[in-house]
Amino acid sequence: MSGQPKEISSVLLEQRVFPPPPAFSKQAHIQSLEQYRALYDQALADPERYWGDRAREELYWKEPFQTVLDWKPPHARWFVEGKTNLAWNCLDRHLDRHGEKIALLFEGEPGDRRQLSYRELHREVCRFANGLRSLGVRKGDRVGIYLPMVPEAAVAMLACARIGAVHSVVFGGFSAEALHDRLVDAGAKVLITADGGWRKGAVVPLMQNAREAVQGAPSIEQVVVLNRLGQALTLEGREVGWDALVSKQAETCDPEWVESEHPLFILYTSGSTGKPKGVLHTTAGYAVNVSLTTRWCFDLKPEDIYWCTADVGWVTGHSYVVYGPLMNAATTFLYEGAPTHPGPDRFWEMIARYRVSIFYTAPTAIRAFMRLGSEPVLQHDLSSLRVLGSVGEPINPEAWIWYREVVGKGRCPVVDTWWQTETGAIMIAPLPGATPTKPGSATLPLPGVVPEILDAHGQPVPQGKGGHLFLARPVPSMLRTVHGDPDRYVKTYFSEVPGKYFTGDGARQDQDGYFWLMGRVDDVLNVAGHRLGTAEVESALVAHPKVAEAAVVGRPDELKGTAVVAFVTVKKGVAVTAELKKELCQHVQKEIGAIARPDEVRFAEALPKTRSGKIMRRLLRDVAAGKQTTGDTTTLEDFSVLAALRAEEE
Ligand code: WT7
Repeated sequence: MSGQPKEISSVLLEQRVFPPPPAFSKQAHIQSLEQYRALYDQALADPERYWGDRAREELYWKEPFQTVLDWKPPHARWFVEGKTNLAWNCLDRHLDRHGEKIALLFEGEPGDRRQLSYRELHREVCRFANGLRSLGVRKGDRVGIYLPMVPEAAVAMLACARIGAVHSVVFGGFSAEALHDRLVDAGAKVLITADGGWRKGAVVPLMQNAREAVQGAPSIEQVVVLNRLGQALTLEGREVGWDALVSKQAETCDPEWVESEHPLFILYTSGSTGKPKGVLHTTAGYAVNVSLTTRWCFDLKPEDIYWCTADVGWVTGHSYVVYGPLMNAATTFLYEGAPTHPGPDRFWEMIARYRVSIFYTAPTAIRAFMRLGSEPVLQHDLSSLRVLGSVGEPINPEAWIWYREVVGKGRCPVVDTWWQTETGAIMIAPLPGATPTKPGSATLPLPGVVPEILDAHGQPVPQGKGGHLFLARPVPSMLRTVHGDPDRYVKTYFSEVPGKYFTGDGARQDQDGYFWLMGRVDDVLNVAGHRLGTAEVESALVAHPKVAEAAVVGRPDELKGTAVVAFVTVKKGVAVTAELKKELCQHVQKEIGAIARPDEVRFAEALPKTRSGKIMRRLLRDVAAGKQTTGDTTTLEDFSVLAALRAEEE
């Protein structure tokens, strides 16, 4: 590849086709493209029958549903009148046959290890669920979870599901401010946190952040604190220790049988405007599709050791670390810490030691490993691996090939899975025993998913052309609303083309109907697989006393996919210095979290705006990328601004 311009080599790689290994297909849940197509056509012809069948197969129903779908665009209700419980589906129903099977394997960053059988996990969940009830948590109450990646994170989620409480997990990397905003918006009654967690050999100050966050959060009545660090806890006023809470609880707990559409969780995610929105998922539709896609997309079998590296603070952690594997009675592995701590082979060493067979991670991680060279991978016996998954951002063909050849030794199908917080479950992905793959393509939609690529007028684009990606049919695992803001749900997702769900992504389809995702088309950045609203970072910046105006754009980055570049104008009399840049980066980190910290701050005399006052983002993106400015700049209100953009000082 060396010596060739990157674009050309990428294009060549994209044209390669990798059929599923025949021996793999023979054993797979879905064994051929024909079988996939038959399912797809069936789902297209009669979606209600298709989803009704899937729902009966995937879940235990306390009371059967009477109607598969009640669709009044843009509102869907699925499996109406059915009653179920997700914790029951993850635990109780497996106890007879799989009670002693390991449900959860855990390794902390310092190297501490634990494992819980289905019976043990069931017991922990029941005790904690009773504990929550003893704190007054009832069906429909919201519970915040701000924990490291430890088994108790899964226990807390499942305990909420068991009693019909609605969990809202906040990623441990978010700041106190960000946690505060989410707790207030969700109206959380209880917050579950820990004294800390381990990351890159250091303690993440969860408890300190939690204490700050609950100040002025009127709905919070109590805070449960897990002892993760193993030092004595000094608890304050409304804090209660995890162990103290569960020690006196019974080991069984009657589940709350909830209606299909009972809210299961709220998960905050960034949008193109304003504060992050609380994506609301309900119980049965989410559960059905998460269970199904976990089995199909990874060809999950009872003997698999399954590892999805996502944190439970993201939707991938909800669906494919906790709920999906457990609904399938699988063994799911949780790792607390950083991928390369204490050495560059930490992941590979653990894959070898636990005999991990299904591995699911993000392109950013793959690119970071690639940069470390193949040595750390080759040092370990990775022969247990069977399927390799990718999620979170478009995967560049070079990283795809490296993943397949170096990690998978050319033996393991690579499944690039496209989906979103809002879709709850995977929407576009190969089925590893059925779908030939192409490096960089998420390939084909799963049965029941009807993606459309449309132009600005809502018309289909010609094959091969890029456009906006929509989902034309409802799917059971889709979000139901934005918590506390039903209008935003309609505005964000269903007003570009009425009645069709707008994903915010650009995509094109090739001659084989394969989907190639092209990144966000709205003002959302995908930074290292994490979603970040430019508006959020901008409002954090303008909250700083020295800042007058700010505009944030993305710049292509080899490692993170997108880097954050902030253009800032300062208030009168403020000196623009390298120190101020650092100060602003720190400030954003404190307001939101390390993931939002700008990679670059550039000062400007004024921001380039159109006559109507809109910031010219395209121009800023070009400037940020160091490209010659392209396009029409004549509508610039202030031409001098281009020249005045000061170059980076360091
Ligand atoms: C956005 C959703 C869904 C899990 C993690 C992210 C991008 C996600 C892919 C993929 C290309 C992808 C999209 C999407 N994205 N997976 N396989 N190929 N892009 O969830 O934070 O809700 O972000 O991530 O842009 O809209 P999220």
